[in-house]
Amino acid sequence: MSLDSLSEFIDCLDRAGELVRITHPVSVDLELCEIADRVMKSPDGGKALLFENVTLFDGSRSAYPVAINLYGSMRRMAMSLGVEDLDSIGGRISELLEMKVPEGLIGKLSLLPRLMEVGKFPPRVRGGKAPSQEVVWRGDEVDLGKLPIIKCWPEDGGPYITLPMVISKDPTRGIRNVGMYRVQVMGPRTLAMHWQRHKVGAAHWREMAERGETMPVCIAVGADPASIYSASAPLPPNIDEFLFAGFLRKEPVSLVKALTCDLEVPAEADFVIEGYIDPRDPLITEGPFGDHTGFYSLADLYPQVHVTAVTMRQRPVYATTIVGRPPMEDYYLGHATERIFLPLLKLTIPEVVDYHMPAEGIFHNLVFVSIDKQYPGQAYKVMNALWGQGLMSLAKVLVIVDKDVNVRDPQEAWWIALNNIDPERDARFTMGPVDVLDHASRAFTYGSKMGIDATRKWPEEGFTREWPKLIEMDDATKRKVDAMWAKLGISEGSQWSTGRGPR
Ligand SMILES: Cc1cc2nc3c(=O)[nH]c(=O)nc-3n(C[C@H](O)[C@H](O)[C@H](O)COP(=O)(O)O)c2cc1C
Repeated sequence: MSLDSLSEFIDCLDRAGELVRITHPVSVDLELCEIADRVMKSPDGGKALLFENVTLFDGSRSAYPVAINLYGSMRRMAMSLGVEDLDSIGGRISELLEMKVPEGLIGKLSLLPRLMEVGKFPPRVRGGKAPSQEVVWRGDEVDLGKLPIIKCWPEDGGPYITLPMVISKDPTRGIRNVGMYRVQVMGPRTLAMHWQRHKVGAAHWREMAERGETMPVCIAVGADPASIYSASAPLPPNIDEFLFAGFLRKEPVSLVKALTCDLEVPAEADFVIEGYIDPRDPLITEGPFGDHTGFYSLADLYPQVHVTAVTMRQRPVYATTIVGRPPMEDYYLGHATERIFLPLLKLTIPEVVDYHMPAEGIFHNLVFVSIDKQYPGQAYKVMNALWGQGLMSLAKVLVIVDKDVNVRDPQEAWWIALNNIDPERDARFTMGPVDVLDHASRAFTYGSKMGIDATRKWPEEGFTREWPKLIEMDDATKRKVDAMWAKLGISEGSQWSTGRGPR
């Protein structure tokens, strides 16, 4: 059974002992962030938190509880998508990608159930009153100050919606996009939309602004957990994130028409903020914001959103997150993407065996990639291919290793990589687009990248010296020591045993 709403997800976490309910009053002004930060820094990401007594900026009590760190552990991330292991989703994608039409009628018929399953995924627009529209504030009734929107860090430009699903439509093709872009509260009915220039929502806006068209935009907060995650997934612009969420859930996402603009929003959302961007408006200063790099991102100009309505459930929960010095909750969201997207990466770069973006690398700063090297120069081929793929094009440092290195263990990956390189020979620099949040690049969103070929070097690559063997104890000795271990009076083996190494 898929989880259909945020409250179902919260109940599920509660039953699994993954949730702490906090009844002590806690302010949206920095306090909630400080508590969540301490919890997110605990081993394995700590528990999810439900703040039931939240104080707003004006000192009054919020009518709505606040949930945070819902996705912030491997276990909860998997629970949110209804799986034991995130790699199993990658497995489902591989199966679909490898679907070959079998010979003969019986063989073809055997494909039907799988094809019908694919047909179940597209979102369905329902009629009647949706839970997300049980309560409606329109026009002047709207006061965003009544929502428990948190200010995270002392020098943030204001309160921010941090776990939103920002919904827009491609004005030419009509394809929907759902992106997780932070949104700053600028006034009771005004927001600043921080979609970075490489993102799909920003492309929709550029196109509409050029044509002088008013852009409808909706910001949903809280929904089925797969939809919330999908907003953060780097899908190509022609794939609707609600379709992807349907695939993850194995059930379609239920949508409803927004009340004041021409978009569809999740019928099970906790809150939906409806509004528009007027192309005649000047851009507005957004930020600074304590970002996932661990630094404040600088204030910059972004479009302003005029809010026309806020709709909500009768008893909504406000879902949020914080970013900052890693590790934080977003590491687990990014990790899910890493696992789920591996088969798609292999589709275009088949020699990729595995890849990993360690928490300290903030996704775009460092990517370890293991490859099945079959010919000289292949590490460079993989680097160039990765820098040509969607948001992977923003990767700052790529480290390519051989297939037997476990890239999901950064200690192992660095150990092998640093041993294997002659820095001058094996590092290459190139130029390209750089993440908006990169504060060190020579220009905003433009700069250099480094690729490190840490694979074993081949004679054809000019390496004529002998390549050494890895140290490994022989099996017979290992077995003898296993047998005597209990008698030695040593409680644990060292984690640095030479038995540990590349697979
Ligand atoms: C917690 C969190 C906050 C994020 N904030 C932003 C943001 O403010 N702006 C942005 O462009 N991307 C942000 N991202 C990354 C995007 O969600 C991600 O790149 C996603 O793929 C964008 O969707 P799109 O490909 O449909 O544009 C954030 C991701 C997470 C997990």
